[in-house]
Amino acid sequence: MSTAEIYSPGLEGVLAGETAISTVEGGLRYRGYPVTELAEKATFDEVAYLLLQGELPSAPQLADFRTRVREAQAIPEALEELLCTLPPGTNSMDVLRTSVSVLAHFDPDTNDNSHTANVRKAERLLGQIPVAIAANYRVSRGKQIIRPRPEFSREANFLYMIHGREPSPAEARALDVSLILYAEHEFNASTFAARVVCSTESDLHSSIAAAIGALKGRLHGGANEMVMEQLHAAGTPETAEKWTLDMLARKERIMGFGHRVYKTGDVRARILKVQARQAAEATGQTKLEQTAEVIEKVMEREKKLLPNLDWPIGRLYHAMGLEVSLNTPIFVMSRVVGWSAHVIEQLNNNRLIRPRARYTGPAVRTVKPLASRK
Ligand SMILES: CC(C)(COP(=O)(O)OP(=O)(O)OC[C@H]1O[C@@H](n2cnc3c(N)ncnc32)[C@H](O)[C@@H]1OP(=O)(O)O)[C@@H](O)C(=O)NCCC(=O)NCCS
Repeated sequence: MSTAEIYSPGLEGVLAGETAISTVEGGLRYRGYPVTELAEKATFDEVAYLLLQGELPSAPQLADFRTRVREAQAIPEALEELLCTLPPGTNSMDVLRTSVSVLAHFDPDTNDNSHTANVRKAERLLGQIPVAIAANYRVSRGKQIIRPRPEFSREANFLYMIHGREPSPAEARALDVSLILYAEHEFNASTFAARVVCSTESDLHSSIAAAIGALKGRLHGGANEMVMEQLHAAGTPETAEKWTLDMLARKERIMGFGHRVYKTGDVRARILKVQARQAAEATGQTKLEQTAEVIEKVMEREKKLLPNLDWPIGRLYHAMGLEVSLNTPIFVMSRVVGWSAHVIEQLNNNRLIRPRARYTGPAVRTVKPLASRK
């Protein structure tokens, strides 16, 4: 078969590789486990171990894993200094991409592409990325950097490093659940970018930096930030129906609805809707939840479209006092484990990813001397 015959714009429907890490067929599963069950019965640390190692950890394996990740948390002083010199208002995803590049210069295994070195690097990034996100958040607001505390879980530590106060167990668990649901999603754009980069036998940090660049776009991770903008634009529960109908009449998309694969709803959205509502009730401010409910009803009635993961997640983070600019970086904090698992899998059985293109340029022609060109 010629390559032209299997051309599909956006690679829609194309099987671009094999993976044993996750599938979206018949509901999202990580290494065979339904994500709904993992969100109920596991922690993000267990899920991170599962994605990187292939199996859920035993209690001693989990304890060792947590120790390794905790010990890797410290970010180099050079990165903290660099964060202080960046222009005000630099996009937080751009800063994170730069931070991963800087971390590569200080990692003892940067150019070692062996399986074990890649697992070590992935564990270090799991520890360092939340610290780098929080450090940039604080520095860019003229605040002192807060260092992680060894006695806190990674979720509690992240909220502590942002807010400067110990979060409630409910807040830490809600963040944990969202990280479980964000951790992995088969051959999405950023994961594919990571696989393309490492297939050239480049390194893990370069693959993660490329994936962060891909995730930033509003058709991918960036959608969760637009959801919050639109939700605020919809106003109140009283104005939300008219706002939604007007948007649909103008053929504008409402971010957080619809999915290329999940046509009967995204289970991740259902789980996070409950978390978002509980978090809002804990603050006593439920207006956004009510507004979102109205929009959901109108979208289902008018378009038969159901929410995807991005719809409730912004509200959950908002109720936890997290600014919108943190939404996509938090996505990275979790997805770095999925990306790393894919890099490791790709390199374990590598073939350079190099597709062909259908040529649409001019037919063959000859080069005229410069003097005779118009
Ligand atoms: C995710 C998405 C790209 C999937 O799209 P898709 O399966 O290729 O579906 P299509 O783009 O072909 O849309 C099918 C129909 O539903 C409509 N539609 C799809 N998503 C819509 C949305 N979020 N808001 C309004 N209408 C939407 C389209 O306008 C189209 O309507 P039409 O048949 O009257 O022209 C799309 O639903 C979308 O743009 N959603 C908003 C962005 C988002 O939430 N992204 C995060 C994804 S996890």
